[in-house]
Amino acid sequence: MKILVIGGGGREHAVIWKLHQEGGHELYCAPGNAGIAQLATCVDIGATDVQALADYAAAQQFDLVCVTPDDPLALGLVDLLRAKGIAAFGPTQAAAQIEASKAFSKQLMEKYQIPTASFAVLDDAQQAMDYVRSHPAPIVVKADGLALGKGVYICQTQQEAERAVREIMIDHHFGQAGARVVIEEFMTGPEVSLLCFCDGEHIVAMPAAQDHKRAYDGDKGPNTGGMGAFAPTPTFTQALREQVLDTIVRPTVRAMQQEGRPFQGVLYCGLMLTPNGPKTLEYNARFGDPETQAILPLLKTPLSQIMLATIHGTLDRLNVEFLPQASVCVVAASGGYPGSYPKGYPIEGLRTAEETGALVFHAGTAQEHDTFVTNGGRVLGVVRMADTLEQAIARAYESMAHIHFQDMHVRRDIGVK
Ligand code: AMP
Ligand code: GLY
Repeated sequence: MKILVIGGGGREHAVIWKLHQEGGHELYCAPGNAGIAQLATCVDIGATDVQALADYAAAQQFDLVCVTPDDPLALGLVDLLRAKGIAAFGPTQAAAQIEASKAFSKQLMEKYQIPTASFAVLDDAQQAMDYVRSHPAPIVVKADGLALGKGVYICQTQQEAERAVREIMIDHHFGQAGARVVIEEFMTGPEVSLLCFCDGEHIVAMPAAQDHKRAYDGDKGPNTGGMGAFAPTPTFTQALREQVLDTIVRPTVRAMQQEGRPFQGVLYCGLMLTPNGPKTLEYNARFGDPETQAILPLLKTPLSQIMLATIHGTLDRLNVEFLPQASVCVVAASGGYPGSYPKGYPIEGLRTAEETGALVFHAGTAQEHDTFVTNGGRVLGVVRMADTLEQAIARAYESMAHIHFQDMHVRRDIGVK
């Protein structure tokens, strides 16, 4: 098949790698990155330039387009592609609302009694101020829309909650994404991500994963796009998995169907295992980054077949299988990230790391002549698999030890907690 993948990070490199493994495909990626360029033709169209992407895909007659990042999904790229008769993997704009609007997703969960933190949706700054003043901290304040993962404030005091409301609604730190806020009860417990392929009706859950969002060891420091991930999560037992499928995933997919927004693509359920049972923190309407880099190497079934089945509503006829192994992705970031950082440092040891058995997925790299150089905050992810999580962790760090660039920053505790 002739396949186009939208995006250009480590997650997209993993998707392209998996499709490349199947053999026989002609692969393209927009915009891609230097690592992806080893396996696919990179096309210089930005992931949010949805009209140009749809026109390009139609002109080139792709058999399948995988829309991976959140923004083009929220902008309706899947709808544009389908209108042109192109098979597109991912939810429609209406279904992508489950991620693009926290108010929408919370109201959906309330209506269909899906366990989540109790909440209020407010679109008036004064009412939001009154609300946080009359509800005791700790409390959580979230911008409604997509805010690059930065629109969530965990507030330990009333003053912090007031500041959050001010930054989101009065100072407009997130633009239109902050026109409304969701204010939530603060929950506690371990977090797990359950990513599921969905075809509007049927569900295939992947091995549960856990990412590491903070920049430094011990979950300290600022939030990042993700410093590493592993799958499966040992704390997420088979019983918990069944419970989450029964109380959260299946009801969500049914709810979206009943709302006339059938969900097709990857439904990412961000869960908290609270003392009162598993509850939904958030949904994403797509593969997670870097969870995908850890999960896809475990997938035995051809990804292109799964994508087509989600589009045609035939997931129930496909036997989707995963290796019974553990997989760990450790990210190497530029020193300074998630703040500012220099680019253009040469990266050494990529081939040696691959020779140890690692998959190296590029996130922010560029090619200069014969060498790869750093070109982003998260530079690359190193993935290893093994029979046990401990072994996979040890192997991932063993492979990572071969990779060097100036001011390289790696968390040393991925998978440990
Ligand atoms: P979200 O983008 O909504 O998943 O929020 C980002 C992170 O904030 C989550 O991964 C949690 O660590 C934390 N968080 C979000 N909502 C809550 C909540 N109601 N209680 C406690 N922590 C939360
Ligand atoms: N790793 C979390 C996300 O992709 O949103």
